[in-house]
Amino acid sequence: MADVPRLKSLLDEVYADYPFPIGGGWNDSLLRDALRDGAGLALVTGEGDAEVFQAFIIYRRLEDILDLTVLATARSFRRTGAMTVLFHHFLNHLQSARIWLEVHEANTAAVAFYEQLGFSFQGRRPNYYRDGGTALLYSLEKRLPK
Ligand SMILES: CC(C)(COP(=O)(O)OP(=O)(O)OC[C@H]1O[C@@H](n2cnc3c(N)ncnc32)[C@H](O)[C@@H]1OP(=O)(O)O)[C@@H](O)C(=O)NCCC(=O)NCCS
Repeated sequence: MADVPRLKSLLDEVYADYPFPIGGGWNDSLLRDALRDGAGLALVTGEGDAEVFQAFIIYRRLEDILDLTVLATARSFRRTGAMTVLFHHFLNHLQSARIWLEVHEANTAAVAFYEQLGFSFQGRRPNYYRDGGTALLYSLEKRLPK
């Protein structure tokens, strides 16, 4: 919870950089609710005043599904492999799970990111976002090795 202001300032960079909605209109209170309803992990370097949040993921468990609530990489670390590192850490620590997410159809960076991880397209939800944009639904199955 103490990290919520850092997550919010990272999301403020995202809002400044992308012209379409990224999930909900996140503020500190909604981020705290999302962390209470689920869990989060972040890729952090440095300590104290030199601490830098490179990327974070917030997710929640809905019965046997893990729903990705929001994830983002700080502007200066995008396309450096930060989210790949964090996402593989996240996957490696899961038992078997089906992961679901929605992504704005105009969010080509996120779609490319999910597809190269092996997420498969499941369908569309028209008019899902506040700008009238369509959500693309993706899922990924993580199974325990036999
Ligand atoms: C989507 C996002 C999280 C990706 O994070 P990232 O740390 O930049 O991703 P990585 O550097 O680990 O990229 C891994 C691969 O994903 C794909 N990818 C990532 N960004 C891409 C882009 N802008 N265009 C095309 N492919 C991209 C590439 O295949 C990339 O591998 P490569 O760089 O070797 O070609 C980041 O762009 C972001 O924070 N976007 C804004 C927030 C957002 O859209 N969140 C998702 C919706 S909730």
